[in-house]
Amino acid sequence: MKIAVACDHGGFRLKNVLIQELQNQGYEVVDFGTYNEDSCDYPDYAVKAARAVASGDCEKGVVVCGTGIGVSITCNKVHGIRCALCHDVFSAKATRAHNDANMLAMGQRVIGEGLAVEILNAWLNTEFEGGRHVQRIEKMMKIEGEE
Ligand code: RB5
Repeated sequence: MKIAVACDHGGFRLKNVLIQELQNQGYEVVDFGTYNEDSCDYPDYAVKAARAVASGDCEKGVVVCGTGIGVSITCNKVHGIRCALCHDVFSAKATRAHNDANMLAMGQRVIGEGLAVEILNAWLNTEFEGGRHVQRIEKMMKIEGEE
């Protein structure tokens, strides 16, 4: 499975930890930057990962900034993206099972690396439950075309 990743300077270190974890597990990682800790603008990088997921080039995406908020808001501007900001394992599982989230956002300044890796794995290993959640997602995604 191909995973898109991106970050800003505030998420650079955690992104590298997550890339290592993904590669150790055999995922193919496409890294859209940023590639160092020089100050930069998170939308420039997050949107690239989001577009790669929306186009189907990558199956899922993982984005990191200082809080996770800026990258998650950015990704959710791209049609077809459901990017969930998660800082606990329960939410990471729930957003896959109920929202079929295709992107995960986390904040390097919010949680430690160990928890972030646990959240990543919980998110990757949880399947969408379908059923009653399908119509809810359809309603949510329909809003994109109406605004
Ligand atoms: C950068 O200082 C910081 O604003 C950014 O990483 C992120 O937290 C924005 O939401």
